[in-house]
Order: sequence, then C-alpha cells, then structure tokens
Amino acid sequence: MAQFGQGGKPTIGAAQWVVVVHGPISEDTLGHSRVKTEALWGATDVVEPQPLGIIGAMLRCLEYAQGQHIVPVDARNAGLSKDVRMDTHRFHEFDIPIDLLNMTGGGVETFDAIADAHISNLKKFIGISPDQSILEIGCGIGRDAIPLTKLLSENGKYLGVDIIKPSIDFCNKNIKARYKNFDFIHYDVADQLHNPNGTIKTVDIKLPVSDQSIDRIIAWSVFTHLYENDIRHYLNEFRRVLKSDGLTYVTVFIVDDVILDSARRTNLTPFNLTFEHLLAEGCFINDPAFPLGAIAYTRDALLAMIKDAGLELNRDFLRGAWSGFFSEPEDGQDVIILNTHRHNI
Ligand SMILES: C[S@@+](CC[C@H](N)C(=O)[O-])C[C@H]1O[C@@H](n2cnc3c(N)ncnc32)[C@H](O)[C@@H]1O
Repeated sequence: MAQFGQGGKPTIGAAQWVVVVHGPISEDTLGHSRVKTEALWGATDVVEPQPLGIIGAMLRCLEYAQGQHIVPVDARNAGLSKDVRMDTHRFHEFDIPIDLLNMTGGGVETFDAIADAHISNLKKFIGISPDQSILEIGCGIGRDAIPLTKLLSENGKYLGVDIIKPSIDFCNKNIKARYKNFDFIHYDVADQLHNPNGTIKTVDIKLPVSDQSIDRIIAWSVFTHLYENDIRHYLNEFRRVLKSDGLTYVTVFIVDDVILDSARRTNLTPFNLTFEHLLAEGCFINDPAFPLGAIAYTRDALLAMIKDAGLELNRDFLRGAWSGFFSEPEDGQDVIILNTHRHNI
C-alpha cells in the first residue's frame, strides 16, 4: 500500500492490492494515513493499511466507507511512477518486501513473533525432523519456509504453494536460490482478497506431489478464507498425499453459540470477527460484502468434511485465542491436526 517516503512523498510497492475508495471517506479511518492519488490512480483515495495489514485495512474500509464504492486494484496495472520505492523487512538472511509481507494478514511489527510462534507450535504439536517432506498451503512470502531451511536437512523437502504470484516469485528468487530442496509454486486461483484477477479455482489444483509422500502439511489461515467445497478439495488432496504416519496442522475458526457469544463480547482481533451471518448450514461469514474475509465453521461441519475426505482428527482441536472463549488457548486460531490412519505422536 502507499508508504510515505522521504519528504512525505507517497510511494507504492509494486504488485500489491490497493484499496481504492471512490468518494470521500472520513479523515480518521482508524488512523490510517490517507493520500490524494487522483492524478496517479484516477481514483480518490488509497488507504494505507499499517498497522493492521491488508486484511484489516480492507475490513475497516468496508466498515467505515459504507455505501461507497470500494475496488481492490492490482497496483501492477496502475501506472506506477518512477518514484516507487520498495521497503523491506530483514528476516533471517532475507529482505522481504513489506508490501508482500502485509499480504500475510499482519504487519512488520508482529511478523517475527508470529514466525517464532508458528515454528514452536509445529515442533510441539506435530513434530518437525530434518528428513521430512513438508507441504505448506498458503506459504505467503516464506514466514515458515525461511526458519524451516534451518530445520530440514538436505534429505528433507519443502513445497510451498500460494495464489499470490509476487510472493511465490520472491520465494523462488530468494529462498529456492539458496536452498535447492525448497520449491514454491503459484496457482492463479481467483480470490476476492488475495488474487481477484485469478483465472482458476481451488478445486482445479492437483498438487504436484506423489501419493503418500508427505510427512507434514501446514496451512496457516487458509481454510479461514475458503468455502466448504474448496476445503473439501484440499482435504481430499491431503488424504492422497499424506503418508500413513503423516500429520496436518491446519488453522480454522470453529464456532458454536457460546464461542460466538464470547467472540462478539470480547472482539479481541483487529478484524472484528463476530461472524453474524449464516452462509450455509454450519458456516458463518463475517461480512456479506466480503465473504472470503473470514469464514467460520461449526465443529460438526468440519468433522463431516474431515470424515468424508477419509481423514481423522489425530487429537482434539487445538483451541484458538481469537474468540476469547478458551482460558488456555494453544494457538491464535483453532487448529485441526489430522492423519489418515490412527496413531499417536
Ligand atoms: C493469512 S495468509 C498466511 C500466509 C503465510 N502462511 C504466513 O503465515 O505468513 C494466507 C495465505 O493463503 C493464501 N491463500 C488463500 N487462498 C488460497 C488457496 N485457495 N490456495 C492456496 N493458498 C491460498 C493467501 O494468498 C495467503 O498468502
């Protein structure tokens, strides 16, 4: 999004989604900086997403600019000026473009701490060992892949897939260039939030992975943006590619009446996750104008999807902090740890 360079000049990182609001919005949009961009963008306002990140910014925009026309625009097509400056964040030995980092759902200020928490939970709940084959759905700019380069041996393998092309390009150019056993693949899946101009659907994806070849599958905050048929598709693929002792670590929002009540009372996240709207049986969305912004499922709905895919829970759901319901949460979102055949770790 628009960054402020030296002299207060707005600069915009390449290949990022920009929330363009046609028409005036209030000056105090949660402290987000505003910049007049009529000349450059042919639109009225571009809203700076920091510190909430792109998802927060889009949700807040929808909240605050009700009745006005909001269009996500691919900045690559927006005729960038020569003044474009790409800010980066140093993470291990990599300089990550901040515009891409903001597409992970958080900002620079939380990036490293979330990366540490991810790896710590993977080690604790599913175990990571050097020779494993790991598949990550929604790998973003490599928040997990980068620390995993230190945990996997040359015999281990990592494959990350995502639908944001610039993020996958970054991973290939930087991470794969140094770690040959790390691969990254882009799928041009259409998605309201992450890839609005995509040309295929999630259900068109066949992961380029042999049957029963994967030890660990990770998906952080991907199922929280997917409709049921897309989740079912991924679960079927997981069933196909997981080894018999393989495990998944997949985050979700699980709701029931008491959890919803707590989420609405505590409203702990910047995303206003109240899930007021029933989309289908067992499926709640946060905002009808922006259904893929956040989707929650009941335990029964998820259990049916898991069972139908031929998978099973390896242990009870991990409890997420997001709803404020659990006194001792184990992760930020709820987590499903699945296997194909019953075993305990
Ligand atoms: C909340 S971000 C998390 C990114 C990364 N795992 C991290 O922690 O930094 C969710 C990611 O899932 C990706 N994504 C969304 N829908 C997807 C789909 N259908 N298949 C694969 N990835 C998807 C998004 O592009 C985004 O990079």
